[in-house]
Amino acid sequence: MLEKFVVRGRNRLRGEVNISGAKNAAVAIIPATILSDGVCTIENIPNINDVTLIARILKEMGADVSMVDKTTMKIDSNGISSPVATCESVKRIRASSYLLGALLGKFHKAKVLSPGGCNFGVRPIDQHLKAFSSLGAKCKVESGVIDIKAEKLIGSSVYMDTVSVGATINALLASVKAEGTTVIENAAKEPHIVDLANFLNSMGADIMGAGTDSIKIKGVKKLGGTTYSIIPDQIEAGTYMVASAITSGDVLIKNVIPKHLESITAKLEEIGAEVTVFSEAVRVKASNVLKKCTIKTMAHPGFPTDMQPQFASLLSVSDGTSIITEGVWENRFKYVEELNKMGANISVEGKVAVIEGTAGKSLIGAPVKAIDLRAGAALILAALTCEGKTTIDNIEQIERGYEDIVFKLSSLGGDIKKVFVPGDESLDLELAL
Ligand code: UD1
Repeated sequence: MLEKFVVRGRNRLRGEVNISGAKNAAVAIIPATILSDGVCTIENIPNINDVTLIARILKEMGADVSMVDKTTMKIDSNGISSPVATCESVKRIRASSYLLGALLGKFHKAKVLSPGGCNFGVRPIDQHLKAFSSLGAKCKVESGVIDIKAEKLIGSSVYMDTVSVGATINALLASVKAEGTTVIENAAKEPHIVDLANFLNSMGADIMGAGTDSIKIKGVKKLGGTTYSIIPDQIEAGTYMVASAITSGDVLIKNVIPKHLESITAKLEEIGAEVTVFSEAVRVKASNVLKKCTIKTMAHPGFPTDMQPQFASLLSVSDGTSIITEGVWENRFKYVEELNKMGANISVEGKVAVIEGTAGKSLIGAPVKAIDLRAGAALILAALTCEGKTTIDNIEQIERGYEDIVFKLSSLGGDIKKVFVPGDESLDLELAL
């Protein structure tokens, strides 16, 4: 059976929604358990397909992985005896690249299939390999397999030519048990980098400066078990903030770290939404048609590229001409064609999208396809404003990263249903690890 979302728009969202644990932190922390000699209990795990997949990969490699309750995962990675990850699942998720750093850190060797993930154009790993080489490893890529070996890992200065979340995470994983001190310069500063460093420190690592562009890692001999709670998901929170704004709603978004949402909050306020910030929640309220704005996506603390498609939906029904420049990825506007099928007026020239807002006039429901995770979220947001019915295909992309999205939006008054239609068997990704 194929699964689709059917959304009927024009309802104002109201009420409260709880944000789940951060996907991008979870998919780094789970492979990081490979470095531990003990048992790791990880709390606030989001129930999403990317997490299921990365946990399943660890399990296939020999780890003992179990759910203690709905949001707590226990991992004992001591059963992983070989530094090889070449099962098919590896190709389906970008975060499987973190197996490289974790296996290298533990075994001084790693053999991992080239990772998958959202297709935003070329997704190079040269900076990951550069970091491993700086620590003394030899890397080769042959027939889609990345093969890395080191006699020993020696702490060193790792200078990133470009700010990369993935390469920073891999450099942390590979250096945490290296001999001596490593300094990562021009490091990424995303909240999930800090979360991973805190997790590693809770296992006994010695990492300072995560969240700045210079991270210092003093190698330790051993990492033990830990109990650690993952931060809330910045992008899920941002998506519900836009859901409230786009439906002229009034939603309290709970279990968030407002500091992580500052760039999103600033843009919403700039276009006329009312955002009230509490210590662990934000309330987004909009009553009038919102205004145009200019956005350029950047590494943290700039405006996150992973919120770019959702804002394209919002600006499509705002007043005036908005401009979004994609500053991180080479090709992240493939979803525009789908939004335009719903009556949006967006034209793209290279990395710049020009959006002619409808000034509050409804978009029209249409059959559309989720090109990738955040693009899929953008279609749901647009569908919430539409006259008529929108059917969204390829929803496994959305379920990679949004926990219980049907339940959460429905409880706010959104009209969204998951339907099953005859077709190819879709992959069974239940959290039965
Ligand atoms: C992570 C996120 C993704 C987000 C992105 C940017 C996860 C699992 N995914 O992806 O959702 O969109 O950060 O915030 O956390 N680059 C190189 N060489 C490299 C690595 C990256 O040139 O070796 C370039 C990329 O092509 C891109 C930019 O650096 O233009 C940023 O990529 P990066 O931060 O590495 O993204 P990911 O870690 O893959």
